[in-house]
Amino acid sequence: MVNIITIDGPSGVGKGTLCQLLCEYTGYHFLDSGAIYRTLAYGALAQNLQPDDQAGLVALAEMLPVEFIDGKVLYKKEDISLSIRNEQVAGMASKIAALPEVRTALLQRQKDFAQSPGLVADGRDMGTVVFPQAKIKLFLTASAQVRAERRVNQLKNQGVTANIVQIIQDIVERDQRDASRSVAPLVPASDAIVIDTSELDIAQVFDNAKQILQKCGI
Ligand code: DC
Repeated sequence: MVNIITIDGPSGVGKGTLCQLLCEYTGYHFLDSGAIYRTLAYGALAQNLQPDDQAGLVALAEMLPVEFIDGKVLYKKEDISLSIRNEQVAGMASKIAALPEVRTALLQRQKDFAQSPGLVADGRDMGTVVFPQAKIKLFLTASAQVRAERRVNQLKNQGVTANIVQIIQDIVERDQRDASRSVAPLVPASDAIVIDTSELDIAQVFDNAKQILQKCGI
């Protein structure tokens, strides 16, 4: 069976960077499941679908023309890697991710990423729903304040000025929605190892993760 490492947790906890480092370290494939939800949100916004249009969203999810090539996210062959990172797409993604049928429609597409020699899977329900059989499950957390500060810095680096109060409010609202939804809520798997990254830099988080991998013979 293919080795699977799941990295779950809310946004801004450092999952993306950790996954990148773990992929380099192990040579495993990478699944950015959030990018799939974001691409669906991007497509839905482009088609003017409402977040409560379950039938329309499921139809789009089943045929979603998304591809991951050379670290880029393509929708209908167009590079949307940057466009899917804005707050409008994030808000829409969080709403449509709460729809059970949408999640079911995207399930197999995510499972298909489990290919030899292994997979690092980034998301919210990787360890609980998509890959419950994963060999290693990590769940990252950090305070809303720290996550908002990281987001503001990230935006600043992209030349965008951001309002931290608004960002904290968005983060808290999105977390509540993600944690309280009836399907695949954002909770650690019972066999996940939880790492609080509030006081850790990425090198320390990576060191923690590496030690866990080594204990499991990876
Ligand atoms: O990780 P991210 O910020 O790119 O995720 C975007 C949205 O998609 C976020 O609101 C949570 C949702 N999501 C999800 O419900 N399940 C996943 N496995 C990944 C993301």
